[in-house]
Amino acid sequence: MAQEDVFKKIVSHCKEYGFVFRSSDIYDGLGAVYDYGQMGVELKNNIKQYWWKSMVLLHENIVGIDSAIFMHPTIWKASGHVDAFNDPLIDNKDSKKRYRADVLIEDKIAKYEEKINKEVAKAAKRFGEAFDADQFKATNPRVLANEEKKQALHTRFAAALNANDLEELRQIILDEEIVCPISGSKNWTDVRQFNLMFSTEMGSTAEGANKIYLRPETAQGIFVNYLNVQKTGRMKIPFGIAQIGKAFRNEIVARQFIFRMREFEQMEMQFFVRPGTEMDYFKKWKELRIKWHKALGFGDDHYRFHDHEKLAHYANAATDIEFLMPFGFKEVEGIHSRTDFDLKQHEKFSGKSIKYFDPEINESYTPYVIETSIGVDRMFLSIMSSAYCEETLEGGETRVVLKLPAALAPVKLAVLPLTKKDGLPEKAREIMNDLKFELNCQYDEKDSIGKRYRRQDAIGTPFCITIDHQTLEDNCVTIRHRDTMLQERVNIEDLKQIISKQTTLTSLLKQLM
Ligand code: GAP
Repeated sequence: MAQEDVFKKIVSHCKEYGFVFRSSDIYDGLGAVYDYGQMGVELKNNIKQYWWKSMVLLHENIVGIDSAIFMHPTIWKASGHVDAFNDPLIDNKDSKKRYRADVLIEDKIAKYEEKINKEVAKAAKRFGEAFDADQFKATNPRVLANEEKKQALHTRFAAALNANDLEELRQIILDEEIVCPISGSKNWTDVRQFNLMFSTEMGSTAEGANKIYLRPETAQGIFVNYLNVQKTGRMKIPFGIAQIGKAFRNEIVARQFIFRMREFEQMEMQFFVRPGTEMDYFKKWKELRIKWHKALGFGDDHYRFHDHEKLAHYANAATDIEFLMPFGFKEVEGIHSRTDFDLKQHEKFSGKSIKYFDPEINESYTPYVIETSIGVDRMFLSIMSSAYCEETLEGGETRVVLKLPAALAPVKLAVLPLTKKDGLPEKAREIMNDLKFELNCQYDEKDSIGKRYRRQDAIGTPFCITIDHQTLEDNCVTIRHRDTMLQERVNIEDLKQIISKQTTLTSLLKQLM
């Protein structure tokens, strides 16, 4: 199946089974804003728990906070967001559609890459087992020509971005003959910068209302609380502050479902270190974060680092963790060495000293910061994309199964009485009432047992138990495993232990140690 079709199926599965809905659905939706449904919220909460525990429980020197979304407007001046949190935009005069100039060029680079991959795939088919992809790429004239065009475009694009040269961005679009996907024309306007922050007003106009912003990242809430936390928590450098919360960006090109949203959630951790040690910690956090992702078991080949060539003015190193989505490798998390830029800026704009006295070296300094920043929604999408699976079973029947890591699954256990009579529902309820304090259970007595299994497969429930007539005699139930569909008979007394062991976050977290 084409990856585009897989993605469409995932989006409709998310709606059909209560994971993700369009915001304001009955009013035909609101662009790039989404709601999480009854299954989605459980999965999302489990992702957040996995992250939070991996930061705050596993590291004695990391603590959490929950700062407000509204903050003093000067914070965004100090952080540089008022002046520089921009996207370069271009309009097509015929279709009147607006695009991000950088995205149009990135798409063109991806097209060259696609052409190369197609040539390689075609040749691999032609030559069979004897095919040597590296040799083919190094010698085939068509591949070499596309590789050269790709590299040249990449170099020119990076230079234009680094120089913030909007005219050159437009010229690249013209030279590469990039057309508007709607009108098909090359009738482009100039490129302009567009600030991504949403603003609103606080206070009544009589008092003189203040323009304030909805935060575009949670990180600034951490920076401006640095002194509060360091002092009240008696934190010693190195230490970290973690936070999960909403962020808002007026994205112009909002695409790919929950990949690029206007309201989204971030999980960010700022790690404060002694100046000069930041590269060691940057390396350490790269290792720790990729381990966190890989522990989910989707396969190591689903991840790669993408080191930034163009560094933000405040950073001295930056990388993205990219995940193989149905639409290619895409950024899920950023790891940045942000130097002392943010704390120094807040020191300057607030007039308050933000220094740390380091007793080990008997010196005061402004700490350097390593940031790990991951989008909850992108993480959610990466998990759904990898977990979604269509299987043909023996006998030709098909099933859709979400092979979610058991610890993240919304429902851990389905409790299914074989029939609606003979005391089986009562026994099933009795079991559920015992387990529901520790496990998210779902009771279902409607339809055939096969249909009920399919419903649970579709939401990723790792275990189903069936209560039958024999249960009333031997106190045993049949437990069915989602991925293998194997069934075994177990004593009710042992259920809690068997299921808890495999569905708690503890086993995932232990892999991180
Ligand atoms: N504090 C640093 C920061 O915000 P970023 O690379 O702009 O860095 C971090 O964002 C992460 O937030 C991204 O890797 C992505 O997962 C998520 N993110 C950013 N913009 C997003 C959007 N419009 N929709 C969904 N997630 C987004």
